[in-house]
Amino acid sequence: MSTIETVISGVGSYLPKNVVTNHDLAKKVDTADEWIRSRSGIGQRHFAADDEATSDLAAKAAWHALDQAGLKPRDIGLIIVATVTPDRTFPSTAVYVQEKIGAPPGIAFDISAACAGFLYATNIAHDFIRTGQIKHALVIGAEKLSCFLDWEDRGTCVLFGDGAGAVVLSGEPAQTAREPRGILATYLSADGRLAPHLYADGGPSTTGTVGKVRMNGKEVFRNAVEEISGAVFEVTERAKVARSEIDWFVPHQANIRIIQSCAKKLELCESKIIVTIEKHANTSSASVPLAVDAGIRDGRIKRGQLLVFAALGGGLAWGSALVRY
Ligand code: COA
Repeated sequence: MSTIETVISGVGSYLPKNVVTNHDLAKKVDTADEWIRSRSGIGQRHFAADDEATSDLAAKAAWHALDQAGLKPRDIGLIIVATVTPDRTFPSTAVYVQEKIGAPPGIAFDISAACAGFLYATNIAHDFIRTGQIKHALVIGAEKLSCFLDWEDRGTCVLFGDGAGAVVLSGEPAQTAREPRGILATYLSADGRLAPHLYADGGPSTTGTVGKVRMNGKEVFRNAVEEISGAVFEVTERAKVARSEIDWFVPHQANIRIIQSCAKKLELCESKIIVTIEKHANTSSASVPLAVDAGIRDGRIKRGQLLVFAALGGGLAWGSALVRY
């Protein structure tokens, strides 16, 4: 057993100022508030300004997380940004965040695992911390999805929004006198055979363009319910924790009906779920840390509680983490 625990020492988020309601969207897309709400639970989304890059959103979320952790940028040894909308093809968005917050030279890179990106990044940071390589890591999910939505495809463009969520993960010595804290178990998986269900139809080595989001909604829905629930079963089993002990389920915010179906499979009461989809829409890798931050700031999530995070997205890739906050 590791003698170092990976604890969440700070959480922060940032949403761009521009709020676009379903009614606003219906002025330029052939859709209606009633359709979007009843199919997805989304009421509005935030869109970044033209001159606001993913690293700007990420850096703002990072500042809030550092503030809550009581740490300075100089304390950070590792920055991982999970994103599918990087500032540039290279270098990583993480180095721009490093530069923008004034963090010293250290490890910085991006993760591409779409909506599961925050969980992939968390898992990697956890390994850096528990092996003693670094003390404090910034793990950020940040997306400017509005830059590659197809406004002619009403089945996808109404579902997504922009935003960023960040956590500071810190290594603390484990103490045998009390129950384990921080990350208790993680689980990751991906199945490339399912990639045609959710992808961007562009890229540097294929089209030389960014592409637009393409999705087979029904297949994504079916797989999301199956794999998000399965990922929660997996981490509770790995940590030998009963699902009834979970205080808060913080799922990826893609569709309220996916979340409700998962809750049913997991026999989790809906009052134990943090739901932000109505206000944020689907912000891909940012959705879980944005929801965690919302739950902490409104006083629902408290220190010592047991949280389970789970997400699925393009890849298809999915994952989960069980955390004693
Ligand atoms: N506004 C109004 N009507 C719309 C619409 C929109 N924005 N988008 C599609 N429609 C229409 C379709 O054209 C179709 O009309 P038709 O029956 O006349 O052909 C009808 O609504 C039903 O479309 P369908 O795609 O079957 O709807 P659905 O009930 O499967 O819901 C999703 C679509 C996308 C909301 C749903 O499949 C979903 O949420 N999937 C998961 C998506 C997701 O979570 N993706 C991200 C994962 S990271």
